[in-house]
Amino acid sequence: MTVFMTEKKRTHYCGDLKASHVGETVTLMGWTHRRRDHGGVIFVDLRDRDGITQIVFNPEIAPKAHEEAHKIRSEYVLAVRGKVRNRLEGMENPQLKTGAIEVMVEELEILNESRTPPFVLDADSEISEAIRLKYRYLDLRRQSIQKNLILRNTVASAARAYLQDHGFIDVETPFLTKSTPEGARDYLVPSRISPGMFYALPQSPQLFKQLLMISGFDRYYQIVKCFRDEDLRADRQPEFTQIDMELSFMSEEDIMDIMEGLMAHIFKAGIGAELERPFQRLKWAESIERYGRDNPDTRFGLELRDVTDLVKSCGFKVFAEAASRGGIVKALRLEDGKRLSRKDLDELPNYVSDFGAKGLAWARVNENDWTSPIFKFLTPAEVNAINERMEAAPGDLIFFVADVPGVVNDALGSLRIRLARKLGLIRAGDLSFTWVTGFPMFEYSDTEKRFIATHHPFTAPVEDDIPLLLTDPGRVRARAYDLVLNGSEIGGGSIRIHRSDVQSTVFKALELGEDEVRSKFGFLIDALEYGTPPHGGIAFGLDRIIMLMAGAESIRDVIAFPKTQKATCLLTDAPSPATMEQLMELSLKVIKE
Ligand code: AMO
Ligand code: AMP
Repeated sequence: MTVFMTEKKRTHYCGDLKASHVGETVTLMGWTHRRRDHGGVIFVDLRDRDGITQIVFNPEIAPKAHEEAHKIRSEYVLAVRGKVRNRLEGMENPQLKTGAIEVMVEELEILNESRTPPFVLDADSEISEAIRLKYRYLDLRRQSIQKNLILRNTVASAARAYLQDHGFIDVETPFLTKSTPEGARDYLVPSRISPGMFYALPQSPQLFKQLLMISGFDRYYQIVKCFRDEDLRADRQPEFTQIDMELSFMSEEDIMDIMEGLMAHIFKAGIGAELERPFQRLKWAESIERYGRDNPDTRFGLELRDVTDLVKSCGFKVFAEAASRGGIVKALRLEDGKRLSRKDLDELPNYVSDFGAKGLAWARVNENDWTSPIFKFLTPAEVNAINERMEAAPGDLIFFVADVPGVVNDALGSLRIRLARKLGLIRAGDLSFTWVTGFPMFEYSDTEKRFIATHHPFTAPVEDDIPLLLTDPGRVRARAYDLVLNGSEIGGGSIRIHRSDVQSTVFKALELGEDEVRSKFGFLIDALEYGTPPHGGIAFGLDRIIMLMAGAESIRDVIAFPKTQKATCLLTDAPSPATMEQLMELSLKVIKE
């Protein structure tokens, strides 16, 4: 052990020092953020997780330390002892928390050297993400990213405190388990002891938390990793963290109320926000109608309106044909359309084509007519009716998409967000929470040619709709709720099925064979027969919540060691091949394509 560390203890973090410490002798330890040689005097910005302090080596005050300081390079690890003093007049740095003071070094020990880092560890320098992820341990020295992880810690602790306070019990559930389906692919783990058999990593603790309710724990929570092999996006990771909860003897309203309390508590702790409660509620159908999606961004207007009835027999073939084939035509009105240039307008059809739209019709509303490529196909009465439906005034712009409902909603729902961002309609710092309820129990999957669960197959149907499960599954409503913040789904949950017969019927509606149900979920069906209390729950995506609180662009910025879009870890090079020995032990053989 070095002399310094055995003889002297750190007295302060670098970010702690202020004018009130002037005159005190302090001991700091940290990394060399920057070193500047000013003809004789050497200045070092010393950094630790708390901040940066300027330390000064003056040959006249401490010749030995000054001599040694010539060796210091970026990221060297230092221990220094010295006296805090006010910076010389005009040398203060108001950008820095400690910018009024500096430490005049008396003793220095270089605790470790560093190779030259592959990038500068400045908060705002632009570095390629591939390099940052390869050297993640250096990237994590940057304050901007440390701040996010410290925020994450604050929020997770606040969540624990709230839940502990509300009678929730933290119970760990297994990772080596059977498939817990949430709509993604499973990560499989081969068993050595049972050749040819596999565990699945849980997509969520869903089944176990329900079993805990059957066991009588009444309120469960866990801050837990979940694993999903799905296509990654800016807000998705293959392993991510949920704040997962389950409660017995509670209605939807009871659960939503407790969850609003949790949100209020963690947003206050994390970013000092005071949330308005109760949060707004929106039915799923209305959300699709007005926003084109079930995760509406309710921070701004620009709502969609259906105009199918007004154009179903109009002279613009695209509209009339879409309507006659069971499609829809929806429109979005932008007030004061001059905000969009001709060039902006020309780019938009290309944008909506990414969502499958075959075109984007537009109209500039004038006093008596429209400027629009489709004006000539419409009668004055049709134009008037559309103006009225859209509440359009001269100067406004109207956009239309005609197609099957999925495409129309996707395209216009996304265009709405695109326009809001482009035109600055979103106020920084706004937090708009919305509960979305009234989901359909099932959606028809064209690829699988059967109904699939909108949430998961353990969600309870609305009591009155139970008779429809096998006769008209498309009409069954689910007792599910999602919490959406600023257009991002931060959580989802439901009241569960607590009757074994209903659970079996739901599996039937999903066209799962009896053998398949037995082998996958037999244990649940059995358990439901042993006195299952009515219960329900929810899980929040912790990563997404932190991302929104921190204003981060990517979920990777709030996870210490994230995966790339291709689900690889550039730091450790995972995934990687297994050795022949390992494969043999597992009775596995790799088939090369
Ligand atoms: P769900 O699948 O809706 O519900 O997941 C809950 C929340 O987890 C977050 N999330 C993700 N975050 C990052 N990366 C991912 N790949 C990812 N997938 C989901 C979202 C989502 O809202 N067992 C149910 C909950 C319940 O019914 O109680 C479940 O897992 O923010
Ligand atoms: P066209 O007659 O194909 O030149 O189309 C006239 C206008 O209608 C253009 O602005 C197209 O972008 C638009 N358009 C074409 N297909 C669609 C569609 N499915 N929905 C909305 N607008 C469309």
